[in-house]
Amino acid sequence: MENSLDVVILAAGKGTRMRSQRPKVLHPILGIPLLEYVLRAVRPLSPRRVIAVVGHGADEVRKAFAGRDIVFVDQREQLGTGHALRCARGAVGAPRFLVLPGDVPLVPPDALKRLVREHASRGAILSLLTFSPEDPGGYGRVLRDEAGVPRAIVEAADASPEILAVREVNSGIYCMENARELWDALEALSNANAQGEYYLTDLVAALYPRTHALLWDDPADLTGVNTRGDLARAEWLLRKRIVARLQEAGVTVVDPHTAYIGPDVVVGEDTVLHPGVFLYGRTEIAAACEIGPQAYLVDSVVEDGARIWFSVLEGAHVGAGARIGPYAHLRPGARIGRGARIGNFVEVKNAEIGEGVRAGHLAYIGDAEVGAGANIGAGTITCNYDGIRKHRTVIGRGAFIGSNTALVAPVTVGEGAIVGAGSVITEDVPPYALALGRSRQVIKPDWAKKKGGA
Ligand code: UD1
Ligand code: MG
Repeated sequence: MENSLDVVILAAGKGTRMRSQRPKVLHPILGIPLLEYVLRAVRPLSPRRVIAVVGHGADEVRKAFAGRDIVFVDQREQLGTGHALRCARGAVGAPRFLVLPGDVPLVPPDALKRLVREHASRGAILSLLTFSPEDPGGYGRVLRDEAGVPRAIVEAADASPEILAVREVNSGIYCMENARELWDALEALSNANAQGEYYLTDLVAALYPRTHALLWDDPADLTGVNTRGDLARAEWLLRKRIVARLQEAGVTVVDPHTAYIGPDVVVGEDTVLHPGVFLYGRTEIAAACEIGPQAYLVDSVVEDGARIWFSVLEGAHVGAGARIGPYAHLRPGARIGRGARIGNFVEVKNAEIGEGVRAGHLAYIGDAEVGAGANIGAGTITCNYDGIRKHRTVIGRGAFIGSNTALVAPVTVGEGAIVGAGSVITEDVPPYALALGRSRQVIKPDWAKKKGGA
């Protein structure tokens, strides 16, 4: 039954209350756009087809979701949610379909499954998910008859004070039959209301009593995002849930208030997340790591027992037991070997750093390969860019690069070689050699005295 279901997501609205140039459904929480959350929520129902109605910023929305299994339909003028569904009519093929707004990111798949089940068992033409938030604010109020069958939804803008006092509100999520009666009612909607829009919500009165409402008990699940305030609230709700899930899995989160952890992030047992952790994208942290204070990681992998503090990692890989920071920046393609140390003000990009390498201070290592156990002195710079192309630097196992060395790539320093401090290395250094690439110091005895005329 479930796979004979289509899904229609209404995502054409202007999002006026966001006051934004960006379409509302592309606003992110924890780095992921609102629409993506809705797409994920419907996935477990294995819909036959997912249809997205786009209008305001349609090109941007299509681009952001290019290559995804979504049928886009246009709503050129945003005349209301009822009008939006009219635009999708031609794309709906399954005998039954769900309608969801693009701005309800936290809806759980279980709520959708239950809605579909109850809808089918009641033989309704339209069923909706409702909830009772602390503050029913701008949501549509749900009116039920004595038997509990929903007979109308009244939008807040159109509601009398008595109706505004109703606590049960519309989530904007519906299950509908792909039936003549439904489409006829949709075509017959009027826009004679406070907002001059075709309200999808008017279908309830039109189809009553073949309607059903499922009151979902956790209002947080059905929070709609209409303003920047709603956006922040939804993110906070999600953050609390993610922290709770990690805590159950054996992760210490020292300060949940400053832990920003995306929904796809994985964290292993006995890892401690200190205050000010920002873990986004596909970041994976293994067991018994110490992350933070202040660590920003996106799409990065950290193996067992590593420590990362006051640092930024983007697309980086950190081996077991390595120590990163304070103030390190690991950029895409940085692969740090087991037990290595990347410390104060060191930047690494597209570089393979071997096991046990030490780069403790003020260095730039880009487009490089550094053998196990090498020592990178303070102020070492790989000069990887000649203004046109990037070139590689190779540093052999156990090599010692003296402080303030410029390695002008392409260049290779052999295994066990030593480079004297302050060198500019433009030619390859053979294994175990000493290379000095600096001018010889000159001493002029008593020169200073003479200069002073003494
Ligand atoms: C809507 C419901 C309200 C419900 C609330 C739940 C209506 C009239 N009201 O109000 O009862 O309590 O959701 O969150 O349906 N959209 C279009 N085309 C349009 C207008 C809107 O695609 O012409 C899309 C929007 O992009 C959005 C969704 O429909 O994703 C809902 O629109 P929105 O303006 O947010 O409606 P609400 O005021 O939240
Ligand atoms: Mg809304």
